Amino acid sequence: MAEIIWGLATSHVPSIGAAMDNQKTADDYWKPLFDGYAPAREWMAEHKPDVAVVVYNDHANALDMSMIPTFALGTAAHYQVADEGYGPRKVPNVVGAPELSEHLLVNLVDEGFDLTVLQELDVDHGLTVPLSVYTPDPGDAWPCAVVPMLVNVLHYPQPTAQRCLDLGEALGRAIRSFPGDLKVAVFGTGGMSHQLSGERAGLINEEFDRNFLKKIETDPQQLAQISREEYIREAGSEGIEMIMWLIMRGALGDDIRRVHETYHVPASNTAAALALFATDANEREQL
Ligand code: DHB
Ligand code: FE
Repeated sequence: MAEIIWGLATSHVPSIGAAMDNQKTADDYWKPLFDGYAPAREWMAEHKPDVAVVVYNDHANALDMSMIPTFALGTAAHYQVADEGYGPRKVPNVVGAPELSEHLLVNLVDEGFDLTVLQELDVDHGLTVPLSVYTPDPGDAWPCAVVPMLVNVLHYPQPTAQRCLDLGEALGRAIRSFPGDLKVAVFGTGGMSHQLSGERAGLINEEFDRNFLKKIETDPQQLAQISREEYIREAGSEGIEMIMWLIMRGALGDDIRRVHETYHVPASNTAAALALFATDANEREQL
């Protein structure tokens, strides 16, 4: 059976990708953020999954605002890197895992999560930046296949945090029931507090972020009680992206260990964080 070996929560700020693409990671502005990633990157490089399920949101790049699925799953064999206005990032295209996608789809629909099926999808910074956070120098190919799971965090009403945690728990069950020796990592992307435009542009609520970072490990159920309105009020209009971390967290189950965490302000005009969790299964394997 497949096993989930780790979960990574990470912001997907596009300029983090641009800093890597343009060799700026050692600049004064970026060095502290990338130094914060280093221990997690080292650990993940030693614990390579076969497939990553990447929970993210499209930012009106692949799906325009004429069609907004609350939850969707990619089932393709390949995903091209989206052109977000400046040409696609010069990173490898993404190889899918269609058999796992189909398995997840059936199991999630059977559990009452009716996901939209995306047979074609260009993946934007929401997915490619987290892959770069995991593997800064992929060369010609990313080190694992990818199943994209998309969440509407752009258009009111976004799914509740509780629904995201519940979906994550069902996702975990679905992954673990996949026949075959597959090592799977789950990425929850987006966050932390940010508001990109409007009167409150640049909003940073470090207290809210730090509490979320703590509770995502110890008490995700408490975070699931927070309403979408409160996420937006406290963490900014785009800060609600952090509900996607709860999907990752739900998939991991109870036996987790925090490997590394880092929090940094500013990245663009936002707060950025990374939190890496190992599962018990992974620990047993190391013994
Ligand atoms: C920005 C965009 C994002 O999608 C995000 O999650 C954080 C920051 C930006 O444009 O700066
Ligand atoms: Fe975003």
